[in-house]
Amino acid sequence: MSRLHVVSGKGGTGKTTVAAALALALAAEGKRTLLVEVEGRQGIAQLFETEALPYEERKIAVAPGGGEVFALAIDAEQALLDYLQMFYKLGGAGRALRKIGAIDFATTIAPGLRDVLLTGKACEAVRRKDRTGRFVYDHVVMDAPPTGRVTRFLNVNDEVAGLARIGPIHNQAQAVMRVLKSPETAVHFVTLLEEMPVQETSDGIAELRAAGLPVGGVVINMVRPAILDDAAVEAAANGRREEVARALSHALERTGSGSRGRTGFAEPLVEPLLQQAREHTERLALEQRGRADVARLSLPTYELQLLGDGVDLAGLYRMARELRKQGVAG
Ligand SMILES: Nc1ncnc2c1ncn2[C@@H]1O[C@H](COP(=O)(O)OP(=O)(O)OP(=O)(O)O)[C@@H](O)[C@H]1O
Ligand SMILES: [Mg+2]
Repeated sequence: MSRLHVVSGKGGTGKTTVAAALALALAAEGKRTLLVEVEGRQGIAQLFETEALPYEERKIAVAPGGGEVFALAIDAEQALLDYLQMFYKLGGAGRALRKIGAIDFATTIAPGLRDVLLTGKACEAVRRKDRTGRFVYDHVVMDAPPTGRVTRFLNVNDEVAGLARIGPIHNQAQAVMRVLKSPETAVHFVTLLEEMPVQETSDGIAELRAAGLPVGGVVINMVRPAILDDAAVEAAANGRREEVARALSHALERTGSGSRGRTGFAEPLVEPLLQQAREHTERLALEQRGRADVARLSLPTYELQLLGDGVDLAGLYRMARELRKQGVAG
């Protein structure tokens, strides 16, 4: 089973939220997970209602059944310093480099270098073991860049490996790439049941596969509950006006509001109600098409409801429970 879960998807579909819920789900029953952020936006801290994350692994939540979720906002500059320290024993020179802006400079002129540092840090956490030889983290979940950039982001080690043909950077890039291309890694996509995000998901999957990167599952997020039963949807779709008017006036009579005679009172309400019902029907049809398109991808698929009041901490735990119920933890 994979231990590095990379969460991508179209912008705004809920990548950060789903990555956090997944980290909670995978930590349940006494496991330990690390949730990492690579874009420096402190979305995880906001979600867990804690202060900004430093460049340091820090426990941010307790999962159901006693598991632990740690979080880390990976900073490219700090990762480069760590890295230089490891290979060149820089000592105080590292701080000086940072002061004169050399680090900023290095990561700006070689964007590939920046990405290799970010993915490298995540891979290091995946493989880290304690003194007894056990993995420190059972799972690492990465809140990754959006679909349009994720393949390049993950594949960049190949570019760097080509760029630096020998030396520690080359070796590091190769080691990272071995983890990313192995079954130890799974790239998941978050989507909505709308045309554009579903299309982007299917394009993103094709791109990943072409690059030899492992695809995980699809999380359909913000699914709205169906409020009409099939018969009602059918009636609305076919605009059966009299039927709706009759049902409505009966309802009004029963509540004692029907004193103005048979359908007279209900009449003005019928058209707006039918209109709403038609819109609802159209949306359901659109969602059904989206579901069929996702099903054609033949990947493990999970569904999360739209939470009416937005996602607070309690909502996040609910999403985690839902993911577990649907078998995300295997
Ligand atoms: N299932 C849900 N129900 C209700 N609101 C949700 C749900 N999932 C996400 N949201 C809300 O949608 C908004 C976008 O979510 P999030 O920040 O996780 O998306 P993102 O894909 O990470 O966005 P970005 O592309 O900006 O990084 C947030 O306000 C979040 O609280
Ligand atoms: Mg995000």
